[in-house]
Amino acid sequence: MTLLAIDGLEAGYETGQVLFDVDLEIAEGEIVSLLGRNGAGKTTTMRSIVGADMPHVSAGTITFREQNLLERRSHEIAELGLSYVPEARRCFPRLTVTENIHVAATAVNDPLPESDMFEVFPELDEIRDRQAKNLSGGQQQMVAIARALVANPDLMLLDEPCEGLAPMIVRQVESAIQRINDERDVTVLMVEQNVAAAMAIADRHYILEEGHLVDEVTTERLRADDELRQAYLGV
Ligand SMILES: Nc1ncnc2c1ncn2[C@@H]1O[C@H](COP(=O)(O)OP(=O)(O)OP(=O)(O)O)[C@@H](O)[C@H]1O
Ligand SMILES: [Mg+2]
Repeated sequence: MTLLAIDGLEAGYETGQVLFDVDLEIAEGEIVSLLGRNGAGKTTTMRSIVGADMPHVSAGTITFREQNLLERRSHEIAELGLSYVPEARRCFPRLTVTENIHVAATAVNDPLPESDMFEVFPELDEIRDRQAKNLSGGQQQMVAIARALVANPDLMLLDEPCEGLAPMIVRQVESAIQRINDERDVTVLMVEQNVAAAMAIADRHYILEEGHLVDEVTTERLRADDELRQAYLGV
């Protein structure tokens, strides 16, 4: 069943249009990645879905479980079951891990039990009383994902979750995303510049180039097609 459908999306900022006729569909249970070079419009797509940081949408529809998200405010979108982990893994730096999760849980009506987060992220258990500012980048990313998960989403949007992390930590984050998908039935849309990380966990990939969706491919095809990766992603 289709969970999220974007149809003919045109969006941008005062400085100009960024997205042109973008169509995208995600079925329940999938992990889908949105790939593209710097400035292709990946983050703008995510922001348009969740109504964050206000790109201006001039045409198209974004439908989540029969609800038109473009008519909803950010907090209503969260209640509908969508959560967003923005670029640069924002957490409250002076709050502890436990407090960060608690604040996120109290922001919605029907959160998951906060203690569940330490089952999903055993890495966070032993550092639960530490302030977020004293954590490594990988640990902060786990906290950011836990904050999104505790809101009990059906769909989680992750913007470059592996950016700037060491390879070993990338694998931990990948495995956390897979666990959320597998064990908690959360559908995932992730933006990546790290094509290897996207291929490691996503089933399907959309490729954005200068605001246009130029291809939609399976992991198998993306892995096999060197020319495609070179042409659109430069890798
Ligand atoms: N708040 C904003 N105001 C004006 N222009 C913006 C804003 N945010 C992004 N842009 C512009 O929109 C275009 C697309 O940016 P976007 O952040 O969506 O790309 P991206 O694919 O996420 O890139 P990156 O891989 O660097 O994160 C770029 O030209 C960018 O400069
Ligand atoms: Mg971006």
